[in-house]
Amino acid sequence: ALTTELRSPPQLREVAGIPLQATTVDNWSQIQNFEAKPNDLLICTYPKSGDYGTRGEQDLGLLSQHGLLTSGTTWIQEIVDMIEQNGDVEKCQRAIIQHRHPFIEWARPPQPSGVEKAKAMPSPRTLRTHLPIQLLPPSFWENNCKFLYVARNAKDCMVSYYHFQRMNQMLPDPGTWEEYFESFTNGKVGWGSWFDHVKGWWEMKDRYQILFLFYEAIKKDPKHEIQKVMRFMGKNLDETVLDKIVQETSFEKMKENPMTNRSTVSKSILDQSISPFMRKGTVGDWKNHFTVAQNERFDKIYRKKMEGTSINFCMEL
Ligand code: A3P
Repeated sequence: ALTTELRSPPQLREVAGIPLQATTVDNWSQIQNFEAKPNDLLICTYPKSGDYGTRGEQDLGLLSQHGLLTSGTTWIQEIVDMIEQNGDVEKCQRAIIQHRHPFIEWARPPQPSGVEKAKAMPSPRTLRTHLPIQLLPPSFWENNCKFLYVARNAKDCMVSYYHFQRMNQMLPDPGTWEEYFESFTNGKVGWGSWFDHVKGWWEMKDRYQILFLFYEAIKKDPKHEIQKVMRFMGKNLDETVLDKIVQETSFEKMKENPMTNRSTVSKSILDQSISPFMRKGTVGDWKNHFTVAQNERFDKIYRKKMEGTSINFCMEL
């Protein structure tokens, strides 16, 4: 793998052209040799970000796996967990959301890595990743695992990622919105280009067991989409349980829930007074950020980069 220093702190280094956390790159052979099992379920999303950077000892526990994403990772994790627990809210309160599903490319010595955590987990396992298809450990493909991919429209994703970088003290300052627009569009952010990530997974969806979901669709008709997830997971829950899951995984509920809202993470890491982790949870907030000129430019770039794909995003509800 070709590795290049991008910026510091925090350190991002490239693996085959994709910027990743330096500690992930250091652990790359362990990650690539990860042994998936046929009954693993992998939650895949384009990242808003990871929690790069290191901190003092006292923060190590808190730092652990608050890898966060703009695509509604936390949301789908809570939905999957609620389905797995048959709608039992108490069971979903057993741990903060960052700790429930091992994050396979996570590495932050001396903490156990995502690979180690996954190894220690009893089957059937639900795991998560932000890796693009070409960097996924091959054993996931070889074992024909189930993949749940959640995509969010690029513009809202960019906005969410921007605010997240503002509040995450472990991340480089995103700069001005104009500057961030360039970084995001050029894929100079953790886990690389949104375009390549989404296209890659979209192209794989008919060749493997991939349930491809859209943030916007979940927002529009949560029950319908949650039902899809349930069937994909091979579960069959009562209507009343489904309704409860819809309710418990609403933005409003999850914003108040300390197990999902990141309120347990110290302010020195996530400064929610700058921007809350559960920020808006809407479709179309990009309109409050993109200038007319930026929007035109982005649309042009989008058409070029997404040329030839059949994927269609909803930009407003
Ligand atoms: P915004 O910044 O647009 O509010 P991730 O979990 O991948 O980091 O994604 C974070 C984004 O998902 C944030 O978007 C957050 O508000 C949104 N989100 C989290 N839970 C949600 C929910 N239950 N419903 C809708 N959006 C949710």
